[in-house]
Amino acid sequence: MKQALEAIRSQAAKELAAAENQQSLESLRVKYLGKKGELTSILKQMGKLSPEERPVIGQLANDVRAFIEQDLEKRSAELKAAELEKRLQTETIDVTMPGKRHELGCKHPLSIVLDELKEIFIGMGFEIVEGPEVELDYYNFEALNIPKNHPARDTQDTFYINDNIVLRTQTSPVQIRTMEKKKPPIRVISPGRVYRSDAVDATHSPLFHPIEGLVVDKGITFADLKGTLEVFVKQLYGEDSVVRFRPHHFPFTEPSAELDVQCFNCHGEGCRLCKGEGWIEILGCGMVHPKVLANCDIDPEVYSGFAFGMGLERLVMRRYNIDDLRLFYENDVRFLKQF
Ligand code: DAH
Repeated sequence: MKQALEAIRSQAAKELAAAENQQSLESLRVKYLGKKGELTSILKQMGKLSPEERPVIGQLANDVRAFIEQDLEKRSAELKAAELEKRLQTETIDVTMPGKRHELGCKHPLSIVLDELKEIFIGMGFEIVEGPEVELDYYNFEALNIPKNHPARDTQDTFYINDNIVLRTQTSPVQIRTMEKKKPPIRVISPGRVYRSDAVDATHSPLFHPIEGLVVDKGITFADLKGTLEVFVKQLYGEDSVVRFRPHHFPFTEPSAELDVQCFNCHGEGCRLCKGEGWIEILGCGMVHPKVLANCDIDPEVYSGFAFGMGLERLVMRRYNIDDLRLFYENDVRFLKQF
């Protein structure tokens, strides 16, 4: 038995020294030290030994076990070190290779100016509200004092889904939805998408982004409209901006006006930017028509209000001197990266 143990020790030492990787070390551990291993099967025969022999052989068996365990550990450490050494040699880093660049996006110019605009109006106590893009004819036209067959409908080429449902052609329906839900005082702006069946060119798109505004309370006058919009324009384009109001017509406001800003390029002289006009039209506005208030169960004898609507695209084109609307929607990064 003593010889058998010694044989196991030297055989294990030889095989361990020859092991090439962790896997073969593990199978050697099972082979020698495992439950069905060689050492265990010898120890199982201890019963056959005489009482004098037993402690001697027991001691030797423990020594052999300890020896194999130590050898296993040593060999494992050696193999690990060798593996690391090999990796360090083969996996060299080529510092001259180009790195991976993570492109950082930036805000779309429409979003930059919209965010600025929201800040300005929030600063004046306005709330931001939104409405659906697929809208009932009633909200898009009828409640805004544009009945069926009214000629004002012709100015808005409309995508009809059926007789009663349209893709909204303006953000003005949000006025109605707001007044139905909320009683005065009301101070809201409503940005969003609208749709018109227009052909695409440098200044037209079937999809664009107006911003609607509505104020309703007791005692609101045209002076409030003028003051609010003048403050807005000065915050957006600078304190030295000059504005003028020009009479106009919208079915949902009475009286109605358009607001022009004096051309900041030529200061009213007339140039290419303002097409020789000296002024640039920015928005439509007016005092909310009494019929529109009444349509929303707000008594026009008690309350009055003003509303306005402007095109975001136009504001942004003016801000950055962009001459083609299509650039906003083409998603060409060479264009978008400039803002
Ligand atoms: N909805 C108008 C349009 O799309 C813009 C507008 C003009 C909105 C005057 C208003 C307003 O609220 O008072 O042409």
